[in-house]
Amino acid sequence: MRLGLVGAGFMGGVHLSAYANIPEVEVVGVADARPESAVAGAQLVGARPYASYDELVAAEDVEVVDICLPTAFHRDLAVRAAGEGRHVILEKPIARTIEDAGEILDAFSGGGPRLFVGHVVRFFPEYVAIKQKIDAGDLGTVGMVRTSRRSPFLLGWNDWYADWRVSGGVLLDLVIHDFDFLRWTLGEVERVYARGVLGREYNRLDYALVTLRFRGGAIAHVEGHWGYPGPFNYSIEVAGSRALLTADSTEPGTLEAIREPDAPDGVPDLASGTSPYEAELAHFIHCIATGEESIVKVRDAYEALRISLAATESVLSGEPVTLGGRG
Ligand SMILES: NC(=O)c1ccc[n+]([C@@H]2O[C@H](COP(=O)([O-])OP(=O)(O)OC[C@H]3O[C@@H](n4cnc5c(N)ncnc54)[C@H](O)[C@@H]3O)[C@@H](O)[C@H]2O)c1
Repeated sequence: MRLGLVGAGFMGGVHLSAYANIPEVEVVGVADARPESAVAGAQLVGARPYASYDELVAAEDVEVVDICLPTAFHRDLAVRAAGEGRHVILEKPIARTIEDAGEILDAFSGGGPRLFVGHVVRFFPEYVAIKQKIDAGDLGTVGMVRTSRRSPFLLGWNDWYADWRVSGGVLLDLVIHDFDFLRWTLGEVERVYARGVLGREYNRLDYALVTLRFRGGAIAHVEGHWGYPGPFNYSIEVAGSRALLTADSTEPGTLEAIREPDAPDGVPDLASGTSPYEAELAHFIHCIATGEESIVKVRDAYEALRISLAATESVLSGEPVTLGGRG
C-alpha cells in the first residue's frame, strides 16, 4: 500500500518508525514545510522527501495519506485528500473546531475513501486490558474512574502548541486521549464540568480537572497537565462494584487488581513488545486492505472532540455543560 506522510515532526517520526515495521506499507514520500524534517523523515523509511503535499502527490502515486500536521491544519488536508479519493490516517484530535470536524465527517461519509483518527490509547496494553475486564463484567458495575495524564510542554513547529487557536490547549490536545477511552469504555457522556487555567498568560503551562458524568451513571475525574516538570506519565483507576483496577505508567507493565473475594481472578499479562503506535497503524492499514471496520470510528473522534470542547467551554464559563446529540 503506497503511503505519503505529511508533517514529519515529532509524531510524523513516530509514525514513520512504525511503518518501517509494517510490511504492507510502502512509504513513497514524506512532505514537510521544513526541508530538513522532510529529509530526516524520508531517511527513516527510504522514501523521497518533498516540500509540500502538492509536490508529493504530483510526483508519487499515493493511496493513503498520513497527516501529522498541527491540529488546526487537519481539516484542509483531510478534506482535500478525501476529494482526491485517498484514504487518510489522521493524528488526533480530528480537528481544532467542531465545524472543521463536521466538514471532515461529511467528506468521508460517501462510502469511498476512509478515515482513521489516531486515538492511540485504545492500543496501549493496560487500557486494552482494562476495557476487556470492564466488558467482561469482571469489575461489576463501574461507579468511578480517576485518570491523570501529565506531559512536559512540547515545543512543536513555530511553537504551535502554545497557540491556543492552533492546539486548543491541554484539554483538546492531551486529555482527549482519556475522553475517548472513557467514552469507548463507559458509553456516552451526559454532563461535563471542568476547572483549569486556560486563558491565563502562561500558555506553556496548562492544567485542567474535569468531572464527567456518564449516561450510565458512572462519574470520572480526569486530570490533564501540560508543562509538568517531570517525565510524561499517566495513570488510571477504575472502581467497580466487585473490584478496583489501577495502572500507572511510572510502574510499566503493571495492572493491579484489588477485588472482592468472589470476583474473578487474574490480571492480564501486559507484556508486549509492540509499540501501541505500531499496533494502531497496523490496525488501520489492515482495515484499509480488508474493508473491515476500525475500532476507532470517525464518529468516535468527533465525539471525543465534542467532550474536549465542552470541557473547554466549562472552564471558560465556570458552569457545567450538558451534551446533547450532534448539532
Ligand atoms: N497520538 C499521540 O500520542 C500524539 C502525540 C503528540 C502529538 N500528536 C498530534 O500529532 C499532530 C502533530 O504534532 P507534532 O507534535 O508532531 O507537531 P510538530 O510541530 O512536531 O510537527 C508538525 C510538522 O508539520 C510541519 N508542517 C507545518 N505546516 C506544514 C504544512 N503546511 N505542510 C507540510 N508540513 C508542515 C512542521 O514543519 C513540523 O515538522 C498534532 O495533531 C498533535 O496533536 C499526537
